[in-house]
Amino acid sequence: METLVVDHPLVAHKLTALRDVRTDSPTFRRLADELVTLLAYEATRDVRVIDQTVDTPLAPAHGVRLARPAPLVVPILRAGLGMLDGMTRLLPTAEVGFLGMIRDESTLKAQTYATRLPEDLSGRQCYVLDPMLATGGTLAAAVQFLFDRGADDVTAICLLAAPEGIAHMDDAFKGSGRPVRLVTAALDERLNEQGYIMPGLGDAGDRLYG
Ligand code: PRP
Repeated sequence: METLVVDHPLVAHKLTALRDVRTDSPTFRRLADELVTLLAYEATRDVRVIDQTVDTPLAPAHGVRLARPAPLVVPILRAGLGMLDGMTRLLPTAEVGFLGMIRDESTLKAQTYATRLPEDLSGRQCYVLDPMLATGGTLAAAVQFLFDRGADDVTAICLLAAPEGIAHMDDAFKGSGRPVRLVTAALDERLNEQGYIMPGLGDAGDRLYG
């Protein structure tokens, strides 16, 4: 999986505050929102555009606009919902689909409890939003779901990632022939025995929504 760890002082600053155990839920939500917009700027570097001419007050100028079909943004409920506004601020014409997934905390396997996505994703660029890439079970299932519906390529935006999750994604999609990318604010050290990212930021869903 092509992985980009965004190296930018503002990203590092906001992530540091997000990790801080003293950061309350309203501040955590605001920081997650701001951080996603910064990551989305990098994640959309390959978004498809088509040429267009625009008339300035003085003369025609060369420009571009987003190609059709519009990109699809997929927050993974529940914690990914905290990243949706920050993403659509940058891509207001994107379509939004939802995947509800929860990790069983004893087996660490992901279960899908809700899907609301277009049936046919042929030709679509998809952006999956999930704050944490831990074991990678959730993201792998989400990406497979999108590929099964015909998605062309998938970029995941995660606030934090663990090496174990990246390795899982590499195994799951190597040779799939379809690009899977990850854009993240940091690659942390490891998972602990409970499958939490270390040092991480705790449980993103709980810190966002209690
Ligand atoms: C968390 C997180 C990811 C998943 C990561 O969600 O937001 O979706 O776990 O774990 P994995 O990489 O090991 O699969 P959780 O299942 O806690 O659900 P929530 O978003 O409803 O809190």
